[in-house]
Amino acid sequence: MGVLDGRVAIVTGSSRGIGRAVARRFAADGAKVVVHCRATMDNAEAVVAEIARAGGTAMAVKGNVGHKQDAEAIVAAAEKRFGKVDILVSNAGIVIDRPFLESTDEDWARAMDSNLNGFFYMTRAALPGMVKRGWGRVIATGSCITEIADFGGNKYSVCTASKGGISAMLRPIAAEVARQGVTVNGVSPGYIATEMLGEIDASGLEAALGLVPMRRYGKPEEIAAAMAFLASDDAAYITGQILRVNGGMSMGG
Ligand SMILES: NC(=O)c1ccc[n+]([C@@H]2O[C@H](COP(=O)([O-])OP(=O)(O)OC[C@H]3O[C@@H](n4cnc5c(N)ncnc54)[C@H](OP(=O)(O)O)[C@@H]3O)[C@@H](O)[C@H]2O)c1
Repeated sequence: MGVLDGRVAIVTGSSRGIGRAVARRFAADGAKVVVHCRATMDNAEAVVAEIARAGGTAMAVKGNVGHKQDAEAIVAAAEKRFGKVDILVSNAGIVIDRPFLESTDEDWARAMDSNLNGFFYMTRAALPGMVKRGWGRVIATGSCITEIADFGGNKYSVCTASKGGISAMLRPIAAEVARQGVTVNGVSPGYIATEMLGEIDASGLEAALGLVPMRRYGKPEEIAAAMAFLASDDAAYITGQILRVNGGMSMGG
């Protein structure tokens, strides 16, 4: 018996990185999983195949979560195949490491699109079914960049706005659906060893590690473990919270 037996979960951005670890973990815990990517269907299909080999059930979908039609189509595809969506992990996102003074209009549009619009469109599409059925979990992937202003090297002001919008908005949404069996929480990762670290300025990585009392990057599986707990019945009385999984980063070095 898995703690997520009978549940259906969409994990956005699960073709790689943190999302892939969440998809694997949720499937191992018994959920039927919708593996999602923006463009890399081969990767998403590989995750689905791996879950199937391990005895789980999954399907792959693609779409830009920052586009309303795509977000609605992802939820519709999940409902068509599995009949419902119990759990949404709004995880797809991007990072931009650039000083504010050098930021471009395109940086702003990309960050808001993938991060904040993605959370808005996906949550708005998935939530009504959860409320109707009286059980649901929305879990957003936040970021340590909303808690720490100075990383010593890397600069995230534009992305911080988009991630901060998610952490601000999830609390009033949580309050709105609190009496309908639906919880809305976030997990805020520190620096996690995924391909995303390759997209930030390498010279800042060492300085950032100096802010982590454990002096190591997190593993995607460590984020997945926190999300599996928040998705379970054991977390029924937790809502509107942001769980930091960051090796102690936000409490200082
Ligand atoms: N890694 C870290 O250190 C870290 C730290 C704090 C927060 N986070 C957050 O954790 C989440 C996952 O990060 P990660 O490290 O696993 O990143 P990653 O390895 O770069 O993977 C990102 C995933 O998101 C998808 N994606 C990105 N933008 C999308 C969009 N507009 N529409 C649909 N899918 C989109 C990608 O799909 P394709 O493969 O098809 O492009 C991919 O599946 C992100 O929200 C990130 O901000 C990561």
